[in-house]
Amino acid sequence: LSIPQPPLKWFFGNIQDIDPVNTVGSFWRLADIYGPIFKLSLPGRTVIVVSSYELVNDVCDWNRFEKPVNGALKEVRALTGDGLFTAYPGEHNWGVAHRLLMPVFGPMGIRKMFGGMVDIASQMLLRWDRFGPDHEILCSDDFTRLTFDMIGLCAFGFRFNNFYTDEAHPFVTQMTDVLIESGRRANRLDIENRLRIFSAKTNQENVAAMHKLCDEIIADRQAHPQPELNDLLNPMLNGKDPETGEKMTLENVRFNMVTFLVAGHETTSGTLGFLFYHLLKNPDKYMAAQKEVDDVLGDAPLEMKHLSQLKYVKYCIYEALRFLGPISLIAKHAKHATKLAGKYDITPEEHILCNLRPFHHDPKIWGEDAEEYKPERFLNGGYEALPPNAFKAFGDGPRACIGRGFAEQEMVMVVALILQKFQVEMADPRYQFHVKVSLTLKPADFKIKVRRRLGRD
Ligand code: HEM
Repeated sequence: LSIPQPPLKWFFGNIQDIDPVNTVGSFWRLADIYGPIFKLSLPGRTVIVVSSYELVNDVCDWNRFEKPVNGALKEVRALTGDGLFTAYPGEHNWGVAHRLLMPVFGPMGIRKMFGGMVDIASQMLLRWDRFGPDHEILCSDDFTRLTFDMIGLCAFGFRFNNFYTDEAHPFVTQMTDVLIESGRRANRLDIENRLRIFSAKTNQENVAAMHKLCDEIIADRQAHPQPELNDLLNPMLNGKDPETGEKMTLENVRFNMVTFLVAGHETTSGTLGFLFYHLLKNPDKYMAAQKEVDDVLGDAPLEMKHLSQLKYVKYCIYEALRFLGPISLIAKHAKHATKLAGKYDITPEEHILCNLRPFHHDPKIWGEDAEEYKPERFLNGGYEALPPNAFKAFGDGPRACIGRGFAEQEMVMVVALILQKFQVEMADPRYQFHVKVSLTLKPADFKIKVRRRLGRD
């Protein structure tokens, strides 16, 4: 079968079909027009966008497809090099870091980070409490402070202290700027990128500043070892790959430090923003989540043992991720020429993008109520009961999210602590949902207010 494609324009191909500051919005629009598969001719590459369960399920076959590192991701390599997220397929240091870090990110490893997570979450709650019920909280701001500080502390024992300053730590701004610029560079013609000398220079300065901070943290840890600390830096500096016996190189440690901040802060912060939007739009779900927190916790301090009992809260998070998660596209390419879903000829040179929003709303999997926010859909056997590859908010196969357990622990904990202590409401009940797009998505300009619940101090 031939793959539908918007009409080509002379010289530009399909570049004008894409909004460079909202690529994913263009993909959603084009999927509405052209259906579950369409093709775009962009500068130097052909992109195939797939949006249905049938097609995404097929590209999740790792015998025939893998994650390429191209487009915006390749641009991010200036910052994160051969760190886990941006490593090329088969790149040696990916294997070393992956094998060494998998157990650290496993259930036993992240349990040990519980204390650090409570420390940072408490800072946010205290701040909210002190500002009082009339204070408007911009979700993207505070949740970003939260997730950034949590990774800083839990991953390398460093306090960014974002809750103690008005302005976010410079690292946060530098990183956001680099990510936005990477996305833009990927959508510009090569010649335009070369002409934009000032943006390139700013980009390099931002990258250098972030690398310098990571190098300082590494040097400090080497000068003052803290063997008792259960973070990621200790195993990254001292651990050995169980397969080759190698240690991670210092450069690779630095790339992975930035990687964890890049991959872990916006994603988790965006998810929390989406989640509170849905809970406040659907008061019955909010009440159900709060009831679960009350049943499990009452007014007792949160402990590790409570987290696994907060199932409804977890499914509220999954449902927010299904509805529209922070990562909107997963990139793939064919290892060899193949037929996609037995129908479409695909070559390795073509870039395949899995368009997660329409994919996660495919009525064949999610039913006719796929447009409803309904955490209950996960209750029946959890998301494990779904057909294979139906839920891809955390990516796919060996390149799926290594920080998933970390993120889930952090999010369930934060939601429980917020619902236990506060009554949350939208700062503006007329808020119209719209999405802010950088490398990840989050609800734009979404603000809440919190009022301490009676008897909860
Ligand atoms: C990879 C989602 C939190 C670290 C990924 C991928 C997705 C994802 C979709 C695959 C990307 C691709 O195919 O290119 C999420 C979501 C999160 C989250 C939705 C929160 C709600 C975190 C956290 C960390 C983290 C907290 C670290 C502390 C990583 C890393 C990779 C990754 C290192 C690359 C793994 C590899 O390729 O080996 N994540 N992530 N993520 N994530 Fe997450």
